Amino acid sequence: MKRLLVLAGGILQIAVIKKAREMGYYVIATDGDPKARGFNYANKSICVNITDEEEMLQVARNEHIDGVIHPCSELSMNVMGRINDELGLAGISRDQAIKATNKHLMREAFEAFGAPSPKSILTESAEDSWNRFENDLDTDSILKPSRNSGSRGIAKVVKGIEKEEFFKLYNVALKESRDKSVLIEQFIEGPEFSIEIIVWNREVNVLTVTDKKTTEAPHFVELGHNQPSCFPEETVRIIKEAAIAGVKALEVNNCACHAEVKVQNGRAYLMEIGARLGGDFISTELTHLSTGIDMVAAAVNCALGIEPCLEQKEEKHGVCIRYFTPKPGKLVSISNLEILDDPRVYKKKIYHEVGDIITEVHSSLDRSGHVIVTDKTPQKAIELAEKLIKNVKFETV
Ligand SMILES: Nc1ncnc2c1ncn2[C@@H]1O[C@H](COP(=O)(O)OP(=O)(O)O)[C@@H](O)[C@H]1O
Ligand SMILES: [Mg+2]
Repeated sequence: MKRLLVLAGGILQIAVIKKAREMGYYVIATDGDPKARGFNYANKSICVNITDEEEMLQVARNEHIDGVIHPCSELSMNVMGRINDELGLAGISRDQAIKATNKHLMREAFEAFGAPSPKSILTESAEDSWNRFENDLDTDSILKPSRNSGSRGIAKVVKGIEKEEFFKLYNVALKESRDKSVLIEQFIEGPEFSIEIIVWNREVNVLTVTDKKTTEAPHFVELGHNQPSCFPEETVRIIKEAAIAGVKALEVNNCACHAEVKVQNGRAYLMEIGARLGGDFISTELTHLSTGIDMVAAAVNCALGIEPCLEQKEEKHGVCIRYFTPKPGKLVSISNLEILDDPRVYKKKIYHEVGDIITEVHSSLDRSGHVIVTDKTPQKAIELAEKLIKNVKFETV
C-alpha cells in the first residue's frame, strides 16, 4: 500500500485526504493544530510543526512515505521540496518550491523565460519603494509582500497618492511579508482568471480556466469563482498560453499548479503560480464538477509518482462558488438559510455564529461563508448563487 504524507490537515485538505484513502492509499495527515479537522479522515494523524524542515523530514523517514502533498496551501512548500529531494520522491524540489512561493523570484523566472508578467521591482525600504513608484513606474501600481498569500498586505497605489498614505500601505505590506520584503508592480487592469493545471512528465496539461470575482481596490479579495470561463475562446486561449509559459518558467514537474492571470487590452499577464492545488475549493470541488476530471486524484498520483488519469469521468456542469461578506459589526442574527436547501446547491457553509464580530473584508480570512452552485451553464449557476448570497440575511449592528 502506497503511503502519502499530507502537509496541513485543515478544512481545505479534507478533500485530498478523503480522495487518497478512496484510492486505496495509506494517508498520514500532519498539522500543528491537534484538533485539525482533516485528522478525522486520515489513517494516521501527527500533530507537528509542518514548517519545521528537520522535524518533517524525520516524520517522512519514519513513515516510509512514497509521496508528499501540500494541497491548497503554501505554508510548507519548501519543507515539501526538501522531503522530495532527500527521499528521491516524484514531486517538486526545494529549489522549485522556493521559486514558486517567493513572488520576486517567480517574477524573475517569468521574465527570464519570456512568460508575460507585469513590471515588478523588489524594493529596499519605504523611501526606495516611493522613489521607484514615482520614477520607474508610469502606471498605477500595487504594493505586495514578497511572501504571503490570500491577498494579505496587498494594496493598489494610484498615481497622485500622498506620500504619507503610500508609506502607510507600504508598512502594511511589510508587516505581512514573511521575508520582510515588499514588491511594487505595474498594476494590470482588467478581469482575473485562474488556470488549473496538472504537470506530469514535464507535460503541462490545462484542465480548465476559472473566472474570478474580487473586491475592488485596494485589497482584491476573492468573492467568487466560476467554471468554465464565460469569456470568448480567444481570451481563454491567451490565458492558457500565459499559464503554460509560466509553469514552464518555474520548471516544476509532477504536481498540480494553480496559475493566476489578468487580461488587459487583449494581453494576458501572470499574477502568480502556485505549484499546488488551488484553494477556495477551485481545484478540489469546482474543477471536477466543470470538467468531469478528478483533479485531486490526479494530484495525489503525481505526488506518488504514478501517472495521473486526465480523462473526463463524470458529467460536466456550469459551476460557481460565491462567498458571504456581511456588513461589518456584531452578528446578531442569520436568517433565510432555508433558501440554501436547493438541489442546485452542491455545498454550503457558514463560518460565523451569532455574537461573532464581522470585520471588513481585507483578506480571504474575513469572509463569512460560501455556497457552491451547479447548473447547466456557469451563467445560470452564477445567477442563482448571487441571489442566494443576497437573500441570506446576516444582521449586524
Ligand atoms: N501586478 C498586478 N496588477 C494587478 N493586480 C494585481 C497585481 N498583483 C496582484 N494583483 C491583485 O492582487 C491579488 C493578490 O495578489 P497575488 O500576487 O496573487 O498575492 P496572493 O498570494 O496574496 O494571492 C491578485 O489576485 C490580483 O487580483
Ligand atoms: Mg494569488
